[in-house]
Amino acid sequence: MEFDKAVISRRTCRDYSSKTLPMSKIADILDIARFSPSSGNLQNWQFIIVRAQGTKEKIADICKGQSWMSDAQAHIVVCNKSREVEKNYPNRGELYAIQNCAIVSANIVLKAADLGVGSALVGAFDEYELQKLLDIPEAAIPEMVITLGYPESLDEDQPRTDLKYLCYLESWGKKEDKKDFWPVTKHTKNLVKKASQTKNRASTKAKGLIRKAKNKLKK
Ligand SMILES: Cc1cc2nc3c(=O)[nH]c(=O)nc-3n(C[C@H](O)[C@H](O)[C@H](O)COP(=O)(O)O)c2cc1C
Repeated sequence: MEFDKAVISRRTCRDYSSKTLPMSKIADILDIARFSPSSGNLQNWQFIIVRAQGTKEKIADICKGQSWMSDAQAHIVVCNKSREVEKNYPNRGELYAIQNCAIVSANIVLKAADLGVGSALVGAFDEYELQKLLDIPEAAIPEMVITLGYPESLDEDQPRTDLKYLCYLESWGKKEDKKDFWPVTKHTKNLVKKASQTKNRASTKAKGLIRKAKNKLKK
C-alpha cells in the first residue's frame, strides 16, 4: 500500500473478526517496525507477543476493562528498557526512551494498516499489574499494548485538525495567510478524499458480502 494511504486509512479498530491472524503477519509487522529510529540507535524496545485467549482477557481487564481487546487475535506489549538510554542521556534519557517506544508503536500500527490488519494503541493500564501478569522485570516498563487482528468493522473516522491551524511560520505564533503558502494543504485534502473513497468502497463491498451470506443462510 502506498505510504500516504496507509497513514490516512489506519483507524483504531475496536471490533475484530474471528479470522486467524497468522504468526507470519505479526512477524512481518514487527520486522519492519524494528527499523524505527531511536536515540543513539539504542532500540530500547522489547515486544511481548500474546496470543493465548486467557492472557488476552486478563490484559483487557488490566486495561481498565476494555473487553473488546480480548477479541483481537494478538496483543503486542511494547516494553521500554530505559536503563541504557538514561545512562547515555542523563538529562533527557527518560523522555527519549518513552519517545523511542512511541515511535516503534506508531510504525507497528502503520505496517499493520499496510497489510490490511486492524490495530489499536492502548495506553490505559496499570503498569505494575501488566508486569506481574507477564513476568516483566522492573527494568522494563510496559509503555503500550497494541491489539492486532482483522477488522469486523471500523469506527467512524476521527476528525483531524486542518494543517493551517497546526503550523506557524519561522517562530511561535507567526502566521502568514498567503494563499500560495500552503500548497501542501490542497494536496493533502485530495489524498484524504481518495483514501476515504477507497475505504467507503471497501466497506460497501463488505456490507454486500455480509448481506449475501445472510441471504444464503436464510435459504
Ligand atoms: C498513547 C495512546 C493511548 C491510547 N489509549 C487508548 C485506550 O486506552 N483505549 C482506546 O480505545 N484507544 C486508545 N487510543 C486510541 C485513540 O483513542 C485514537 O488513536 C484516537 O481517538 C484517534 O482515532 P484513530 O486512531 O481511529 O484515528 C490511544 C492512542 C494513543 C496514541
